[in-house]
Amino acid sequence: MQLVPVICVDGPSGAGKGSLARRLADRLGFHLLDSGALYRVVGHVASERGVAWDDELGLEAIAASLDVTFEPIDDGVGVFHEGTDVSIPIRSVRGGEGASAVAVFPKVRQALLARQRELAVAPGLIADGRDMGSVVFPEADLKLFLEASAQARALRRQLQLQAQGDSVSLPRLLEAIEARDAKDRARSASPLRPAEDAVVIDSTELSASQVFDRAMALITSRGIV
Ligand code: DC
Repeated sequence: MQLVPVICVDGPSGAGKGSLARRLADRLGFHLLDSGALYRVVGHVASERGVAWDDELGLEAIAASLDVTFEPIDDGVGVFHEGTDVSIPIRSVRGGEGASAVAVFPKVRQALLARQRELAVAPGLIADGRDMGSVVFPEADLKLFLEASAQARALRRQLQLQAQGDSVSLPRLLEAIEARDAKDRARSASPLRPAEDAVVIDSTELSASQVFDRAMALITSRGIV
């Protein structure tokens, strides 16, 4: 049972979890867990060390001793592995493929579990991921599950990649997103699905501010802050 407020923001890639989680953490002054970044770093480090993305034991060893820190940089939060900024490679299309590949393994998920729970400290935590409400923080005070059509998510991802100087065609992104969704939903370890007590928000037709307002209304009405 966690002793501080925990708010989970789960859902598929590109549904707007990251930006909602960041805004909520800023507004409430809570810590932020970007759990996808942990899986991305495991995939990235595996590539660098020549560990295959299907070598469960090799990946488990990387996950168990992962030296990751999140530090503020100019326009957001940088992800550092052993002191090196890996924010750009882990956010590439390949970084996403690696994360999705390594995330199927129960031993990898288990190795990252305690690390994620340790972050639930005062004054509270916003946890962004796929299984925050269903597995990592089952007793969370609020579980949000953001949905959006695959087309809308591909478009948002394209804009995000363009902003960091990466140009990828929309059809390729759509295909990658659909393949990743299918894999995330079908895996037996923590499949992508809303927790039973999650509030589902479909953001396809909503702006980031509208989603944020809905989330804040739920947080206030439940007396979380
Ligand atoms: O949120 P993201 O796009 O950074 O996540 C990258 C991949 O990591 C995604 O395909 C699935 C996996 N992931 C996961 O399995 N569980 C989480 N809590 C977060 C991410």
